[in-house]
Amino acid sequence: MAARGVGLLTRLPLHSQRRSRVQRSISRHLCCPGTVAANVGSEEQPLGGAETGSEDKIPKKRFSEVQEERREQAQRTVLIRCPNNVNEKKFLKYLSQHGPINNHFFYESFGLHAVVEFCQKDSVDSLQNGTHTPKQRTDPVIPFKSRFLNLKLKNSSNQIPQQSYAQTNKQLPPSSKKLFELLNYAENIDDQLNTLLKAFQLTEENVRLRHLTCSLIEDIAAAYFPGCVIWPFGSSVNTFGKLGCDLDMFLDLDEIGKLDVHKNAGDFLMEFQMKTVPSERIATQKILSVIGECIDNFGPSCVGVQKILNARCPLLRFSHQASGFQCDLTVNNSIALKSSELLYIYGSLDSRVRALVFSVRCWARAHSLTSSIPGTWITNFSLTVMVIFFLQRRSPPILPTLDSLKSLADAEDRCILNGHNCTFVRDLYKIKPSGNTETLELLLKEFFEYFGNFAFNKNSINIRQNPFETSLNISKNVSQSQLQKFVDLARDSAWILEQEDKSQPSLSSKQPWGLATLLLPPGAVSTPLSKKKKKPMNEKVKGLLASIKSSTTDSSKGTHGKRAISTQV
Ligand code: CTP
Ligand code: MG
Repeated sequence: MAARGVGLLTRLPLHSQRRSRVQRSISRHLCCPGTVAANVGSEEQPLGGAETGSEDKIPKKRFSEVQEERREQAQRTVLIRCPNNVNEKKFLKYLSQHGPINNHFFYESFGLHAVVEFCQKDSVDSLQNGTHTPKQRTDPVIPFKSRFLNLKLKNSSNQIPQQSYAQTNKQLPPSSKKLFELLNYAENIDDQLNTLLKAFQLTEENVRLRHLTCSLIEDIAAAYFPGCVIWPFGSSVNTFGKLGCDLDMFLDLDEIGKLDVHKNAGDFLMEFQMKTVPSERIATQKILSVIGECIDNFGPSCVGVQKILNARCPLLRFSHQASGFQCDLTVNNSIALKSSELLYIYGSLDSRVRALVFSVRCWARAHSLTSSIPGTWITNFSLTVMVIFFLQRRSPPILPTLDSLKSLADAEDRCILNGHNCTFVRDLYKIKPSGNTETLELLLKEFFEYFGNFAFNKNSINIRQNPFETSLNISKNVSQSQLQKFVDLARDSAWILEQEDKSQPSLSSKQPWGLATLLLPPGAVSTPLSKKKKKPMNEKVKGLLASIKSSTTDSSKGTHGKRAISTQV
């Protein structure tokens, strides 16, 4: 592609455009040395480099390290609802009486909120001790004391002119208009994919808010199950999260046992008296039901609690208004956390992986192939697995197979969950980087070609529920018409990218080009391939449906010597 006109916007990293000057200077001023937390306002590597769009050169932490550090960071953090006209400096000075502050930022969600991370956990206790139950209230309240607080102005001297209000950090992706502008300024298609990634990936602040929200819910669950942990999983932590994505979390009750291991030495073994129930599933349903009541009745800012207890994986769904997250809470879902870890590894190994996944996900969303409402649509999780599978099959491969990650594992990596072997190497440095140098432009085009022209009647694609529980089918929900739509759009998109190569728009052109063309609403681009050459796909589609729906097929028995996706991932 020809070089495009480069605007200032594309030269500045998006995250640096978003930061406020006030925040930067205050963060630097208040940063405490020796804490694990990264400085939100600095250009330093965020905690867990792979989480928020790091570059290849940044050291990559193990998934478990990142999760532990983030959790500890969240425990030193409070969420404060503030009046719009709060004076930032006075606010920080006021809070600093409880101890030094490591980081803070403001954002909007049903009003102005501040996330304030102290250097020490004691400071949170001190702040809570000095916090009152609501005064001058008109309605009765439930006196549940959490780390979600309300700041009141005592007198007008705290008020400041509007232009000096605290600057807020954005928690949502750019509008379509803004995205098209950004994409048009990019230099080439590779640059477009990277621009899209930067615009949509979770920011450092958004990641903090996600872990803080889990930590706040954990406090509620801990009232019943002291020592429990609520871990985020899915796209919030697997490096594929888009701003605005839901917050998947699971209540880990096994942590309770782990804490007490050292007390079991000697001749005796002490066990808790516990109620028995007919099945694990019933235990899960009972626990979720009670926690659901607590969240509904006591959880500040938690609204719309739904108990979805009859699902294959029972869950609670609710909105956490103060963070703006739609939350799904499950219990003892450790396999899902393990598959998040696997995806984290894949997302961290090569910078092209996330760029490609984000573009494919945005493309699917733009064409209504995915939806936030559950239904017969393909899911983001399936799309991610498809990209990983595609990248494993490049020559040379860009990503290693799950088998090869297993072969690199040592004794410490061994992991069996619910009878499933979930062993793979966890240290990113033990995995050799790929020698493949293909461009993102080529990979995107070939991805569409690959899945648009897949010989479904000969080869089997078994995109399973997850890579470990191989008897479950990830795409069970996908209807034949949705699959047909996916295939048609993939073929059209490959064709559009092919044309892009031949006709390069002039530098001054304001017309969408490259990736932007693929994201245009349906009907905005004429695609001769889809109209003239469309082959009857029904047989092929039927073949694919049969293969992805055959949840009983052994994943190692792909037809014609090809392996199924579930074994290769
Ligand atoms: N999951 C799974 N099988 C499915 C659906 C989900 O194993 N059929 C697990 C995956 O680990 C997935 C997580 O549950 O990452 C969360 O599911 P979901 O929220 O649907 O997907 P995300 O990966 O979080 O993507 P999104 O950004 O769309 O939320
Ligand atoms: Mg999710």
